[in-house]
Amino acid sequence: MKVLLAFYSFSGKTKALCERLKTEECDLYEIHEVGKKGAWQAFTGCFKALRSAPSKILPILTDARAYDLIIVASPVWAGNIAPAAIAFIKEAGLEGKNVVVIANAGGEYDASPKVRPILEKAGAKCLNVYNTQNGADVSLAELSE
Ligand SMILES: Cc1cc2nc3c(=O)[nH]c(=O)nc-3n(C[C@H](O)[C@H](O)[C@H](O)COP(=O)(O)O)c2cc1C
Repeated sequence: MKVLLAFYSFSGKTKALCERLKTEECDLYEIHEVGKKGAWQAFTGCFKALRSAPSKILPILTDARAYDLIIVASPVWAGNIAPAAIAFIKEAGLEGKNVVVIANAGGEYDASPKVRPILEKAGAKCLNVYNTQNGADVSLAELSE
């Protein structure tokens, strides 16, 4: 099974989690937001996240249609996944694809009610929204449980 593990990370915890999660069957892809990473991007990003709105991301240099499973990992911002991850879900061509989202929050939080409608709008099949905290370890097997 070919797995794409696409992630956005602001301060590095989601990135570190994904790098540990990566196996041979898994391709890692980092989502990059347009503009300078900093306080302003985080501040405005929270308002976008509140509205489940995307931010501008650099062109997606991977073809999600070539994968059996797409995992999208993101920090939680204002109770939602980050706008860069929302943009990826909208733009990556996930119609009909099996998708798992890893929502990496600072505290105990269930991002599922926010994330599922975003996937639904993109036409993706949501297999799971896995909630974790501060980049805590997760295994590929746990993700699709
Ligand atoms: C702009 C911003 C908003 C955040 N909002 C939340 C939140 O609503 N709930 C929460 O539990 N954590 C929140 N956090 C904490 C991050 O989700 C958490 O630290 C995460 O592990 C960071 O991942 P990263 O290092 O990959 O960016 C927020 C962090 C930032 C920078």
